[in-house]
Amino acid sequence: MKILVLHGPNLNLLGTREPEVYGRLTLDDINLNLKGLAGELGVELTIFQSNSEGALVDNIQSAVGSCDGILINPAAYTHTSVAIRDAIAATALPTVEVHLSNIHSREEFRAKSFVAPIALGQISGFGADSYLLGLRALFNHSKK
Ligand code: DQA
Repeated sequence: MKILVLHGPNLNLLGTREPEVYGRLTLDDINLNLKGLAGELGVELTIFQSNSEGALVDNIQSAVGSCDGILINPAAYTHTSVAIRDAIAATALPTVEVHLSNIHSREEFRAKSFVAPIALGQISGFGADSYLLGLRALFNHSKK
């Protein structure tokens, strides 16, 4: 099984970016944890981070035919991007949306996700564990 892992804008700054909200792990730490779990599950990961909406859309499109599912933290684009939502819907691939923080307990604008309605589900508020829970959820769903 192959999973595309996508990290949206500003997640390259994890570790130093608002650590009281997002924790002290870096993106490399999170990716290492993901690779560890993927190894246990026998899943192959392709991991990509971008601050650019278009680059994320291009990567989502490229998953068709090469990946079995998408694990995505769209970051701020969660709340704004019809383009990312449409790209995910176009792939018809099972997709899990994850967030480090609980987007439902923060500013009102963060509670709205354009991606959630077309995702299998959303995991939000468990810090770096959100990614691991999301990978497990995607794996369990896709192996059925
Ligand atoms: C985030 C939550 C978003 O609201 C925010 O814009 C981010 C990170 C999270 O993982 O908690 O950049 O997606």
